[in-house]
Amino acid sequence: MTEFKVTPWNVEGDIDYNKLIEQFGTQPIDDKLIDRVKSLTGEVHPLLRRKIFFSHRDFDWILSKYEKGEEFALYTGRGPSGHTHLGHILPWIFTKYLQDAFGCELWFQLTDDEKFVLSPQLSIEDTIKYSYENALDIIALGFDPKKTRIFSDISYAKTMYKHALQVAKKVTFSTAKAVFGFDNSTNIGLIFFTSMQSVPAFLPSIMHKKKIPVLIPSAIDQDPHFRITRDVAEKMGYYKPALIQSMFLPSLEGPNSKMSASKQNSAIFTVDTPKQARKKIMNAFTGGCSTLEEQRVKGGDPTVCTIYQYLYILFEHDDEKLNEIKRRCMSGEEMCGNCKKYLAEKVVTFLKAHQERREAAKDRLDEFMISD
Ligand code: TYM
Repeated sequence: MTEFKVTPWNVEGDIDYNKLIEQFGTQPIDDKLIDRVKSLTGEVHPLLRRKIFFSHRDFDWILSKYEKGEEFALYTGRGPSGHTHLGHILPWIFTKYLQDAFGCELWFQLTDDEKFVLSPQLSIEDTIKYSYENALDIIALGFDPKKTRIFSDISYAKTMYKHALQVAKKVTFSTAKAVFGFDNSTNIGLIFFTSMQSVPAFLPSIMHKKKIPVLIPSAIDQDPHFRITRDVAEKMGYYKPALIQSMFLPSLEGPNSKMSASKQNSAIFTVDTPKQARKKIMNAFTGGCSTLEEQRVKGGDPTVCTIYQYLYILFEHDDEKLNEIKRRCMSGEEMCGNCKKYLAEKVVTFLKAHQERREAAKDRLDEFMISD
C-alpha cells in the first residue's frame, strides 16, 4: 500500500520521491546530467544542484539538441484558483533561470478553464480575476518580455481550440480514466481539459511553422497530463515535450498537511504582508523538541523541519551556511526560534522586493499577455 498520492489535483501524504519516479516511469536527475548543464551554461541553479528538480523525461535529449545548435522552447503554467504561493513560484524561478541560461522563448499558460470546471466554489469571473493576479507574479519574476508569452485559455481559446480538438480525438475516455482516476461522476469539462493543457507544448512549432523541441518545468504533479501529451505528440507531427520535474515545497504545518490556498497558514502567499508571513513562519512546524532543555540535550531533526526545508529548497543558497545551520540544530546549539527568525527575514526581504515588482507589473501586462 502506498501512503501518498500525487495527481494534478491532489497531493497527499508523506511523498517518497524515489517511489514516485518508479510509479510514474520518469528518470532521476543524476550528477552526469547536472555536469552537462554546467558545461553548457557555466552555472547550475541551486534547485538543480540540490536535486529539488529530481526527475525528468528526455531532458538529456533536449540538451543533445541544444549541443547541436538547435533552440528549444520552454512551456509552463498555473491554474488560477487563488493567489500565488511560494510553492507555485518554485518552478517559475527555475524556468526563469532556464530562459536566461539557454536563451529560450517561454509559453506560459493560465488554465482559468481548468480551475472553473474543477472547483465547485469558483465562478468563471473568479478564475479570470486570478489569472490577472497570478500574471502579475509571473511578470514580477523578471522573465524576458521579448521572449515570453502569457495567455489564459479562455482568452486564447480561438487559437488553441482547434489544436485541442486534435488532441481530444486521440485520447479515449478509458485512457483519461486510467491516467487521472476519473469516474462517472467526473464532469465532462475536466475530462476534456487535458487536451487544452497539451496545446502549448505544440504552440512553438505551430507559431514558427517548424518542429521545435519543448521543455516543460513543473512540479511532478503535472506529469499525468504530459504523459498524454507525449502519447499524442508524434501522431500529430510534433516532438514529444521533454519534462523537468521538482519536488514540492512542503506545507508550513508539517509533513502530512497539504499546502493549500484554503488553509491560509499552510503557505506563504506573494500578497502576504511581512507581518502575516512572519506570523506563519513563527507558528510553523519544526523538527525541534518540546522543551528548550530537551533540545539542548537531544538536538533537533532538520529532516522533518519545514523551516530547514524552506531554507534548503528556496532561501539559503550558500551550502556552507546551510550545513552550519544543520549542524547547530542537530547538536542542540541552536533553538528553533532563531532559525525561524532567520528564515522570516529572508522571506520578508523577498516579499518586499517581489511586491514592488508585482505593483510595477500592473503597467506591463501588454508586454507579455497575448489573446485572440
Ligand atoms: P498549479 O496552479 O496547481 O501549480 C502551478 C505550478 O506550481 C507547481 N506546484 C508546486 N511546486 C512546488 N511546490 C508546491 N507545493 C507546488 N504546488 C504546485 C505545479 O506543479 C505547477 O508547475 N494545471 C496546472 C497549470 C498548467 C501547467 C502547465 C503547469 C498548465 N500548463 C504546464 C506546469 C506546466 C496547474 O493547475 O498548476
